[in-house]
Parts: sequence; structure tokens; C-alpha cells
Amino acid sequence: MCSVKSGLKMVTTTTATTTINKTVDLRSDTVTKPTESMRSEMAKAEVDDDVLGHDPTALRLEQEMAEIAGKEAAIFVPSGTMGNLISVLVHCDERGSEVILGDNSHIHVYENGGIATLGGVHPRTVKNEEDGTMGISAIEEAVRTPKGDLHHPVTKLICLENTQANCGGRCLRVEYIDKVGELAKKHGLKLHIDGARIFNASIALGVPVKRIVQAADSVSICLSKGIGAPVGSVIVGTKSFIAKARWLRKTLGGGMRQIGVICAAALMALHENLPKLEGDHKKAKFLAEGLNRIDRVRVDVAAVETNIIYIDIPEDPKFTAEDACKSLEHVGVHVIPQSKFRYVIYLHL
Ligand SMILES: Cc1ncc(COP(=O)(O)O)c(C=O)c1O
Repeated sequence: MCSVKSGLKMVTTTTATTTINKTVDLRSDTVTKPTESMRSEMAKAEVDDDVLGHDPTALRLEQEMAEIAGKEAAIFVPSGTMGNLISVLVHCDERGSEVILGDNSHIHVYENGGIATLGGVHPRTVKNEEDGTMGISAIEEAVRTPKGDLHHPVTKLICLENTQANCGGRCLRVEYIDKVGELAKKHGLKLHIDGARIFNASIALGVPVKRIVQAADSVSICLSKGIGAPVGSVIVGTKSFIAKARWLRKTLGGGMRQIGVICAAALMALHENLPKLEGDHKKAKFLAEGLNRIDRVRVDVAAVETNIIYIDIPEDPKFTAEDACKSLEHVGVHVIPQSKFRYVIYLHL
């Protein structure tokens, strides 16, 4: 028997001893729903026109996020994708300039090539190692600064991702980021961090966000992932960077009016849910250990540092990862099919 709940099939499964009547949605930490307290904050939010720069709740959120990240200023944007796009475009302000980024990075794999199609920015990919890093020497070899060679685009920017989602939510360490920052400085480049899950990295490493991103010129931080806000991201950086970002956000159609309504939910999410990320990480580890005990299923438990678990099913044409996903779907466990497939743990699980 099936019933429909939130667009997903709710499955009733009867085993010899018990009847399970629920879905478990492990597709992503983006599927969280606003809590009662977020909805109540939204209802009473003070608002004004944010395009004109006067929404008090947006200003409060931006100030708080700038403080958390240890940067001069911040701006709310509708999505992490727009946060990354704006950041890359501000740093690579001449068409045809180049950004060095991971071949498995979200910006490169999942953001529709927006930096190239909309910004004329050339992506130079460097291999992401299993731990989410790119080799320091590999980055340095990829740098192309002006040497009078008219064949090459000029490198302007390096992008890191922390946590690195496609590498299983791995955390980039402060020492590593500082080294990349030094390299960027040495070559006159900027450093941007896609910090969609920087709060997860901060909790897992036990290091404040501001220290992790100290070497970065800009960071895009998602509010609608682990901490569970319904909408939005924030970009942080210097005042002059954010002023340019504000201009570009308007160009891209991301200037919104009474956004205090959604910023109020984000503020509540920040205050209420940040401390809960540690619980997500513990659950992910626990689940990974359990999965690893299942025959034919392999999880690198040590690599589960935050809320993402990558599950490997050995190559077998008779039972592929896709078949496994279908079987899980059948019993009400929703995952996104990939060659390896992943479980993502979040607030409501
Ligand atoms: C690492 C990373 N960066 C950026 C994004 C983009 O965020 P959004 O979906 O809000 O555009 C995501 C989304 O899942 C992500 O995982």
C-alpha cells in the first residue's frame, strides 16, 4: 500500500514482526522544512525594501554572518549557486580570465557552467583528491599569470569547497586553506571558498568559521542546508567586494524586496540549529558503521567526517547502485542515484 506525502511515496512495509509506515528521505540536507519557531519569526519579521538597502532583518542577518565569518560585510542571496556565481564574477572582473577549481567541485559539476556562460570565466580544473583537497603543487602548476603570452587566459582566482560535498563532505583543514591562501597571495590571486557547508566543517573540526576562512577573500555560506533555513545563502567579504556583489546580484535578478521574512527564518535557524549539527555528524558515523557491516556494501567510515555518507556497491551488472536505490525506494528510503550513492543526514532525522 502506498500513500503520497510531500511529493514522495510513503511506503507501508510489513515484515514478519512489524509494520513500518514511513519514508526516510536521505536525498540531501536541502529537504529540511521550516520549524514552528522559524515560521513564527517569519510572521513577525520587521521588513522594508532590501533592494533599497533598508530591510532591518536582512541587515541584522548580514551583520551577524559577517561577524561569524570575520569579514567586513555580507550580503544575502537567494541561493548558493548565485552566491558562488556572483563571487567568481566579482573576482574575475575581465571576461576571459581564469579560475582554478576542483574537478569535483559543486561550481564546476552542478552549477550549469554559469561562470562561463554568464561571466565569460574560463574554468581550469585541478583534480580533487579523495580528501577534498587539490594538491598545492598541482594548483601552482595551473596558475597562468601575465607573462606576455597571448595564448593563455590570465588566472585571477582559486576556489575551494568546504566541506567538499562530492568527496563525501570532507573537511578542508585550516593549515591547508592557509597554504592555498599564501599561494594565492604569492601570485596576486584571490581565494573564494564555496562554504555551502562551512558550519559542518567548523563543528567537525572544532574551529570557528572565521578562523577556517581567514585566508579567503570571499565565502558563500548556505543557510538552507544543515541549519535548515527554507531559503538563502550569504556571501561575505570586504566592504568593496560586497558593494560589487550587490550590484551583480541586482543584474542577475537576485535583488528582492521584503526579504526580512526569509532572513528571519534564517536567523532563527542559525540560533536554533547550529549546535545540532554535531548530532547529524554522530548519526552519519553511526549509520556508516552499520552499513559497513552489511555484506557487499562498503563505506569508508573514517572518511565520514560530517553529514554525508558515500556508499559503494561493488561492480556487479546484476545488482548496480541504481538497483540498490530502487530497492531502497521500495521500502521508503529516498536517495539520489549516483554511481556511488549517498545518504545525507540532517536536522529532522
Ligand atoms: C557544495 C555546494 N555548493 C553550492 C551549492 C548550491 O546551493 P543552492 O542549491 O542553494 O544553489 C550546493 C547545493 O547543494 C552545494 O552542495
